[in-house]
Amino acid sequence: MKPSNRTLTGITTTGTPHLGNYVGAIKPAIEASQDPNTETFYFLADYHALVKCEDPDRVAQSTLEIAATWLALGLDTERSVFYRQSDVPEIPELTWLLSCVTAKGLMNRAHAYKAAVADNEANSEDPDLGINLGLFSYPVLMAADILMFNATTVPVGRDQLQHLEMARDIAQRFNHRYGEFFVLPEGQVDDHVATLPGTDGRKMSKSYDNTIPLWLGQKALRKALMRIQTNSQLPGEPKDPDDSSVFAIYRAFASKDKTQAMAQAFRDGMAWGDAKQALFELIDEELSEPRARYEALMARPQEVEDRLQAGAERARALAQPFMAELRDAVGIRRLS
Ligand code: TRP
Repeated sequence: MKPSNRTLTGITTTGTPHLGNYVGAIKPAIEASQDPNTETFYFLADYHALVKCEDPDRVAQSTLEIAATWLALGLDTERSVFYRQSDVPEIPELTWLLSCVTAKGLMNRAHAYKAAVADNEANSEDPDLGINLGLFSYPVLMAADILMFNATTVPVGRDQLQHLEMARDIAQRFNHRYGEFFVLPEGQVDDHVATLPGTDGRKMSKSYDNTIPLWLGQKALRKALMRIQTNSQLPGEPKDPDDSSVFAIYRAFASKDKTQAMAQAFRDGMAWGDAKQALFELIDEELSEPRARYEALMARPQEVEDRLQAGAERARALAQPFMAELRDAVGIRRLS
């Protein structure tokens, strides 16, 4: 029987995976891929990366790091379709067909584009300064990613929900004009997974420069965790677990029992240094095996490449015949 649920999500290849990505996105996605009632499609959104990143080596390096990360963490690529967006040329092809049913006015309303314009206006600059068409039509490429495989469910951060609404809008317009080709996808924001604080207490995010990279070696990981900001309460002073980044990160990795015990230890006045040491041991225990696999994969990029090529082949086996139907539907046909 065909699984009723097809889950798809993309990862933009501009950065180095950090603990926040791991807890908030990668780990839940890999867990979801183990559900027998769900088909999962996970891909490296390298065309999207070009919108935000002008550094070719960074895009390439990030692609390798992210792919190696998902593989090292145990993504089962027999079950899950794991591929690189740019290996599926049907995706940019579909982007064009979708562009031709997308209202420009819809794109004008995209948060990311509007924020860039507002920024320019606030600085009394030309409103279009520094804005490329890639940024403007980013939501169309994203709609093509999703609609190409008729995904039903798209796990995303809250900031991406508008893009899902746009994908549905675009799908509806295409269906209305050419026939019922596309399923309307739903965004899925998981409020149960933790948003990790970074070293400064704000949400862990590359844009705040407060991240802790996922694949630090033991020593560097310990050092990074020791740098998490705390208040100046002394050892022995009762501490409020709910007001501590150290505790928030601990909780994201620990079992219920361990979390409760740590909360109690905080109230009993555990020293910050000891709390951070416990946090280090907990994270290191979870990551040490995958870290060894990650390092092995980083040393053998060809192996990562082969896995991506195998994924692309599976993705294209679906995309090619579907794209042929879509071309025919819009009137791009052989003459006889
Ligand atoms: N825009 C998404 C982000 O920044 C990445 C992405 C690209 C994506 N294509 C997608 C997510 C398709 C879900 C589905 O996080």
